[in-house]
Amino acid sequence: MIDVPVNLGSRSYVVTIGADVLSKTGRLIAEVGRPSGVMVVSDRKVARLYAQSVLSSLADEQMHAELFVVPCGERYKTLATVRRIYEALVKAKMDRTSAVVALGGGVVGDMVGFAAATYMRGVDFYQVPTTLLAQVDAAVGGKTGVDLAQGKNLVGAFYQPRRVIIDTLTLKTLPMRELRAGLAEVVKHGIICDKVFFEFVRENARHLLARREDALREAIRRSVEIKRDVVQQDERESGLRAVLNYGHTVGHAIEAATGYVKYKHGEAVAVGMVAEALIAERGGVTEESVLEPVRDAVCRLGLPSTLDPTISAEDLLQAMELDKKVRAGEIRMALPVRIGKCSVFTIERSNVLSALREFCAIGG
Ligand SMILES: NC(=O)c1ccc[n+]([C@@H]2O[C@H](COP(=O)([O-])OP(=O)(O)OC[C@H]3O[C@@H](n4cnc5c(N)ncnc54)[C@H](O)[C@@H]3O)[C@@H](O)[C@H]2O)c1
Ligand SMILES: [Zn+2]
Repeated sequence: MIDVPVNLGSRSYVVTIGADVLSKTGRLIAEVGRPSGVMVVSDRKVARLYAQSVLSSLADEQMHAELFVVPCGERYKTLATVRRIYEALVKAKMDRTSAVVALGGGVVGDMVGFAAATYMRGVDFYQVPTTLLAQVDAAVGGKTGVDLAQGKNLVGAFYQPRRVIIDTLTLKTLPMRELRAGLAEVVKHGIICDKVFFEFVRENARHLLARREDALREAIRRSVEIKRDVVQQDERESGLRAVLNYGHTVGHAIEAATGYVKYKHGEAVAVGMVAEALIAERGGVTEESVLEPVRDAVCRLGLPSTLDPTISAEDLLQAMELDKKVRAGEIRMALPVRIGKCSVFTIERSNVLSALREFCAIGG
């Protein structure tokens, strides 16, 4: 079991990572607080697999715990579901001294975190992420929220958990495509902050895909540390946190241009990282070649590195413009200077377009 501390003054907490820590949830919560009651919120799939282990560990600590199950999927990350969570909390007589546990992927984590931030003006909140994406990204940093019909994550709050509990064994049941999508964010952390870690991910791609526990644990540990380091310097995303968006300017455009169905977020980010490596090289911001190592890592992880030929450079740029990423003919984006270092640059629209045209011409 490894503890990664997140230092945010009075909002500090620890991220605990290990095999079978789920069965210790009760004790890990008791080390931090003594809630009068605990509401575990999970989605249907995850609840079936893991709720029992969490509930019995809470019972072992003599904590009164209840389970509330929400439907699976991003389309339920809404205020309507949050309202149902509030109602379940009232019905279970949870008060300001109670705690809420989010057991599931990023959808559950974001939505349950928002419910915890707002129920009775805020109750203790614990993250128990069960997808790789949630473990290395969504569960750390305190961004919570829900989607509106008009767009994703339009309503939310910065609200830090009291502890994050990551059980590496939960990844055994994760669908392969979800595992790969999480690995896109893992390798992103290496590209933006740590060349040694990038090489670790590249060299261990096979082991990570085979779900070797030691390889996954190290990938999660270092990812959490890197995200932690960025968040500690910029908790509310006023500047530096933007480097975490490497691959996401083009990635979001790909998701939007394909109606959010063809690519999973991590897959779009994988393609986005390759495209943005090319933009970085053509934009003259790189000190050494980044395109080939990025592409190689993405391919080794079984992630897409080229775009579907039905999407054009113009489609992508238009999506970026709708996303308000383009201002006065310029685009601000996080780009790699070299592997292990990213900064935010302003690139002219015409240069982005020509790099995207070159990227699209490579084809899939
Ligand atoms: N707050 C942040 O900083 C942040 C960062 C990145 C992403 N996000 C959010 O995260 C969400 C995406 O999260 P996600 O990719 O985890 O998706 P998800 O929560 O929808 O989970 C994906 C699927 O995997 C299933 N699942 C989860 N754990 C499982 C397990 N161990 N075994 C088997 N099946 C399992 C879920 O039931 C679901 O069907 C998006 O809403 C995104 O906005 C938030
Ligand atoms: Zn992402």
